[in-house]
Amino acid sequence: MTLEQRREEIRERYAHFFSPEDALRHPLYAGLCAQASSDDTLVDILLDTPEAQARPNLVLAALHDLALEDPNGELAANYPTAAHFAACSQSPDTPPREPSTAPPLDPGAVGAVTTWVRDHRDLVAGRMEGRSTQTNEIGRNAVLSAGVAEASQGRPVALIDLGCSAGLNLLVDRYRVERSDGHVLGDRSSDIVVHTEVSGRPMPTDTAQIAWRAGIDLDPPDLDDEDAVRWLLACQWPDDVARFERSRRAMGLWRSMDPRPRVTAGDAASSLERVISEVPDDLQVVVQHSWVATYLSTEAQEDLAGILRRVMERRPLAWLSFEHPRLVPGLGHPAGTVERIPGATTLFLEDSQLGPRVLAQAHPHGTWVRWEA
Ligand SMILES: C[S@@+](CC[C@H](N)C(=O)[O-])C[C@H]1O[C@@H](n2cnc3c(N)ncnc32)[C@H](O)[C@@H]1O
Repeated sequence: MTLEQRREEIRERYAHFFSPEDALRHPLYAGLCAQASSDDTLVDILLDTPEAQARPNLVLAALHDLALEDPNGELAANYPTAAHFAACSQSPDTPPREPSTAPPLDPGAVGAVTTWVRDHRDLVAGRMEGRSTQTNEIGRNAVLSAGVAEASQGRPVALIDLGCSAGLNLLVDRYRVERSDGHVLGDRSSDIVVHTEVSGRPMPTDTAQIAWRAGIDLDPPDLDDEDAVRWLLACQWPDDVARFERSRRAMGLWRSMDPRPRVTAGDAASSLERVISEVPDDLQVVVQHSWVATYLSTEAQEDLAGILRRVMERRPLAWLSFEHPRLVPGLGHPAGTVERIPGATTLFLEDSQLGPRVLAQAHPHGTWVRWEA
């Protein structure tokens, strides 16, 4: 491939990075991506990046990380989250702080950030080196909380989260999940609030009792490491200060816990049976994964599903899968009779007794849920 062909490939990635609706909600990132069609500054910075990592979101996260690191610097002026992070002493441990609404984007912001990248190319390239983007979206607890309740069958649960990232979704019972049907799940007193608009059939209303928890991730961020904390935050969009603050509080909760849920570094499929073998017999095993199988090859998805179904023959186990249905053909989830909502992520439950079924369709970050079961 010639250099120009490679540039064209990267330009294409920027061009397709945002849907028109997302572009309206994230004007700085949308503007930077659009700029890449006529200015190679953001294109060339990806030329030396290994193919698998050469994605626009890696550049965007590196810039956000640099803004969060130096919140009084020139770059940070265009990042509403940077001012918020500075007000929180750049720490997940400081008390909750009300997020303010991001101001309208300065018309010169896209040009200013692009110029800054041109002037600080090595710094940006250095921040990207060896990294990949990663998130841990606690908004998904809007749908996972109901899924775990349904899967628990009223029994205390051993919750295993595959591809758990830092493990924040193992704390599903520690957040206040406020639903538009008037029900609150989780910890009513928590200031970490997951709000969701719900529709469809009546949803479970009980909070599952979680008696044991463990996560497995290929590369779990270490929340004791300030750089890892900042990077996990930097992988979010900089104009959603409320989401940023909610993640910051969740990380603070995690850091304050003693003991913390166990998170094992490793491949989900290879480690799963060993982790399940450690669960006390009297607990209902619930294995969940959210936006993880999507990143596995079809063969790896088949392996994972095969392991889960084999274990199900030996002991009661409920498998909760929150993934984009078209991207996980190897999991063998049944299509069912549910009318697909475009762009929705589907929550499947398969268990030893009742077999597989669609529980819900939801926004990928849980901002709305349509309960189907
Ligand atoms: C998009 S993130 C989702 C994280 C989390 N489940 C959530 O909903 O916030 C995908 C996660 O899957 C992990 N992952 C990818 N492949 C994996 C594998 N084979 N085994 C374990 N974890 C994996 C990544 O390291 C990353 O943390």
